[in-house]
Amino acid sequence: MAKVKFPSDNIEADVPVGTPLKKVIEEQGANVHFACSDGRCGTCLVRIIKGMEFLNKRTPNEARTLEMLGTEDDKRLACQVVIEKDGTIEVEGVY
Ligand code: FES
Repeated sequence: MAKVKFPSDNIEADVPVGTPLKKVIEEQGANVHFACSDGRCGTCLVRIIKGMEFLNKRTPNEARTLEMLGTEDDKRLACQVVIEKDGTIEVEGVY
């Protein structure tokens, strides 16, 4: 199990490896919003405070959108993120 924390929302959840971050956010009610859910709009931009190494690599759509937004390396699009390894991940919504 991985532990996903949203410190600014005071949320912690234990989730199995392979869980999409979007699912965790929706089930836990974290303050991150979605629109396209396809890595194209940037609505779900989050900062990975800790645990980037436990996540999948950026998808092609995500990489393109993050490049257009000019974001730093600690940013991901939550709709494209999958928890791939056991560990502790801390996430914060940007918008
Ligand atoms: S909801 Fe559009 S990029 Fe994630």
